[in-house]
Amino acid sequence: MTMALRDRLGRWLTFRFDPETAHDMAIAALKSGLVPGQRADADPRLAVRTAGLAFPNPVGVAAGFDKNAQVPHALLAIGFGFAEIGTVTPRPQAGNRRPRVFRLAEAHAVINRMGFNNAGHAVVRDRLSRRPAGGVVGVNIGANADSQDRIADYVSGLTEFYDLAGYFAVNISSPNTPGLRALQGRAQLAALLERLSEARRGLIAQGRRRVPIFVKIAPDLEEGALDDIAAEVAAKDMDGMIVSNTTLARTGLARDPGQAGGLSGRPLFERATIMLARTRQRVGPRMTLIGVGGVDSAAAALAKIEAGADLVELYTGMIYQGPQLAARILGGLSDRLDREGVSSIAALRDRKVEEWAARPLPGA
Ligand code: FNR
Repeated sequence: MTMALRDRLGRWLTFRFDPETAHDMAIAALKSGLVPGQRADADPRLAVRTAGLAFPNPVGVAAGFDKNAQVPHALLAIGFGFAEIGTVTPRPQAGNRRPRVFRLAEAHAVINRMGFNNAGHAVVRDRLSRRPAGGVVGVNIGANADSQDRIADYVSGLTEFYDLAGYFAVNISSPNTPGLRALQGRAQLAALLERLSEARRGLIAQGRRRVPIFVKIAPDLEEGALDDIAAEVAAKDMDGMIVSNTTLARTGLARDPGQAGGLSGRPLFERATIMLARTRQRVGPRMTLIGVGGVDSAAAALAKIEAGADLVELYTGMIYQGPQLAARILGGLSDRLDREGVSSIAALRDRKVEEWAARPLPGA
């Protein structure tokens, strides 16, 4: 069977099922090794060094795809330059009642209100500790919905996974845990980041390596809020930001299905890329930025890099285009480097920050 045919068959099969069942099937297929491999480091010009880490290419899997660290190695084996597992909370959690994921096929989008369903720190820690060595696997940490001390949940994530994480993503931007996004407010954010920074300083003082911490934000922030976050992230010695999580906005949808939750995929691309560029303007050139939201082609990945991203991540694109998407994007990025005659993908970063940052947000 040709790869294209296998892709189409896979999509046809999975679209017969509800989105969560289809997702479980995708995880099972990755586990079984049914998905053909692709070298992540095939083109050395795509390698990225940032936050003290070496990435074979800039295209990673966003959080939520492999919440429980079942297949990070398989994701790296199909070409992704890194994989972010989680969100993981201290205690296992069932999440919201099903159905809680909705495909908007004509828009190449998804609405989800999963609510941090995950197996909890202990199970995920055990899995990660047994994964084959090599590759960058980030751990996305969060708080239990019924937590009495949310900040303590994040600190516990940092200490529990410190030896296993390539980096940490601090998820304060899921719209599906009531009150979680309030952690983006200046005072709460300052308290959270101070505690994480302090915990990390303690670990480094014991001789551990410095594991980078990235803060993942919502695309639905006011300008002033973005100023505050960028200032706190710098002041508290964080290493970068991930822009962005899903949106509560529904602009750009021909048909609004009227489901609560966060919107991802193509309709998020414009908003998330504008927010990325505005973030780059605020944090300056040294901080690591990961651009997420609607990446489903080499052109979209390049747009994120030009808008200020060192790295990109994707999730929804894979739902519509299958697991070969990583390889396709890498091929497209290499072609672009040929045409531009540049020797490194990093040379394209920031080319269009001003242009993207100046665009009005969709619906504004
Ligand atoms: C997500 N996303 C997400 N993000 C996060 O930080 N923790 C999580 O647990 C999840 N879970 C999750 C589940 C589902 C079903 C989706 C579709 C998304 C958000 C994800 O990481 C990403 O930020 C957005 O989906 C935008 O990227 P895409 O999907 O447009 O490429």
